[in-house]
Amino acid sequence: MVGIRANGSLRTLGATGSYVCSSCRARQARRVASIREYSSDSTPPNLILENRPYPTDAWTNVPSSIISALPRRLHLQPSHPIALTRRLIESRFPGFTTYSSFSPIVSVQQNFDSLGFPPDHPGRARSDTYYVNRDTVLRTHSSAHQADVFRADSSDGWLVSADVYRRDAIDRSHYPVFHQMEGARTWDRRRLATSASANGDLAQAIWDDVARLPTHDVVVEDPNPPTHPERNPLQANYHTPEEAEAVGAHLKRSLENVVVEVFAQAKRAAVAAGDAKAATEEPLKVRWVEAYFPFTSPSWELEVFWQNGWLEVLGSGVVKQELLVEAGVPQRVGWAFGLGLERIAMLLFGIPDIRLFWSRDPRFLDQFKSEVGEVGKGKVEGEGRIARFQPFSKYPASPRDVSFFLPSTSSPAGGRPVFHENDIMELVRDTAGDSVEDVQMVDEFVHPKTGRKSLCYRINYRSLERTLGREEVNELHEGISKKLVEGWGVELR
Ligand code: DAH
Repeated sequence: MVGIRANGSLRTLGATGSYVCSSCRARQARRVASIREYSSDSTPPNLILENRPYPTDAWTNVPSSIISALPRRLHLQPSHPIALTRRLIESRFPGFTTYSSFSPIVSVQQNFDSLGFPPDHPGRARSDTYYVNRDTVLRTHSSAHQADVFRADSSDGWLVSADVYRRDAIDRSHYPVFHQMEGARTWDRRRLATSASANGDLAQAIWDDVARLPTHDVVVEDPNPPTHPERNPLQANYHTPEEAEAVGAHLKRSLENVVVEVFAQAKRAAVAAGDAKAATEEPLKVRWVEAYFPFTSPSWELEVFWQNGWLEVLGSGVVKQELLVEAGVPQRVGWAFGLGLERIAMLLFGIPDIRLFWSRDPRFLDQFKSEVGEVGKGKVEGEGRIARFQPFSKYPASPRDVSFFLPSTSSPAGGRPVFHENDIMELVRDTAGDSVEDVQMVDEFVHPKTGRKSLCYRINYRSLERTLGREEVNELHEGISKKLVEGWGVELR
C-alpha cells in the first residue's frame, strides 16, 4: 500500500509487518520491465477454495502454495504464538465484540472500494495482490471487513483478526500469508443526544471515556497537532475540531495501552528465560507519526524504539465518515486501527524467522503449550503461555546463485503482464517452499551492446527443521532455474 509520508516522501504503508521497512520500499521500486507470456493453459476453469468453486480469468494468480495455506488459520490454533498474541491484545479491549473466522476470500469491493482506495492504487496491482478472479481477492488486510462489521454490528467496539495475503519478498520477516488484527471504537451521536451523559456533547462524552481508560507511565513522543490542514485534515463536513481531537486522544491512549502491555510481557518472558540484559534494558519508548490511509483522516502510526531503531507496529486514524455512511451507520463517529500480529509475536516470543510460525515441528509448537492438568490418561492442554523461544538448532545454509538475461522483447504493450520481483519470489516458494530462508538480488546490469538486462539472485536454502542435503538443494535450484526459462523465457548465464 503506497502512501505519502508526512514528510512528503513516497513510502509503502501498512501496519502489517509486510510493507513497511525501507528495504521493502527499495524492493517495491524495483519493477523489472520484461515480458511474460501469461500461460492461461495452466489455469483451470475453476479454483476450489474452501470447498467452493470460483471461476478463473486472466486475473487469476493464486499459486498452489497459497491455496494450501488457506486452512491453517494460525490465529485460531490454541497455543500457537500468533493466537496467544491475538488473545493478549484482545484482553486489552474489554467489552469489544471479537470476530476471528471471516473467510479470507473477499470481493474487490470489500478489500479496496469500500475503503475508498482509488482505482489506480498500487495495492490493487496483480504483482502485489492475489486475485482469485477479476472481482475476488484473498484479502490483503483485515480492513476488508470494516464496512461489513460496521453495518452488521451495533456494538461500540469490535476486533477482527484474520489471515491476510500479499505477494512479497522472501526473507526472515516476510511471508506471503500473515495475520492482522483490526479494531474500531465508535460513539453513536443519536444515542448520545437522547442520553443525559455529557449533556449530549459528543466531544465531552468521549473525553469522559478517555478518563476511564487505564493510564501508563511510558514516555510517548507526540509532536503532532490533532489535525493538520494539509498533512492530516479534519473531516470538516462531519466533525468539529473538538470531536476529532477527543477521538484522537481516545485512540492514542487505547493503543498505547496495548503496546505497553505487550512489551511488559515480552520483558517478563525474556527475564524468565534468564536474559540478564532484558532486565536492565532502557525503558520502552514509543512515538506517534502522521500517516495516510484512504479510509481514515487524520491518521497516525505508532512506532516503538526496539533494538536501536523505530519499528512501526500499527496504523490508525479517525474513520472516514463516508465509510460509515455507506455502511448505514451515519450517526457513528470514531477510530480504527490495524496491526500485524507476526511482527508483535516476533518481539513478544523472540522468534527470529517468520517461517517458524508455519512449522509443524513439535520442537517449536510444544514450547508454548501449557498443561492445566490431567483428565483420565491424557493431559489437557491449557491456554498456552508466553515464553521466550528456545532455538532448537541452526542448520547450515546453502546459498546458490541464478543469473539470467531477461527476454529482449521490449515493451509490455498488449496487456501482457510485466515481470516483477515478486514473480521470482513466488516461483521460489512454489518450488522450494519453506526450505528457502531468503532471496536477494545481488547483481543487475544492462549489456552495453545488446541492451539486454541481466539479473542475478542469491537464493539461500536453509530449512528450520533439518539439514538439507547437497543433492536435494541442487535439485530444488535446478527446478527453479528451469521454471525461470520455461515460464518467463529468460536465458540462463
Ligand atoms: N489496513 C492497513 C494496512 O494493512 C492498516 C490500517 C491502518 C488499518 C489504519 C486501520 C487503520 O483500521 O485505521 O496497511
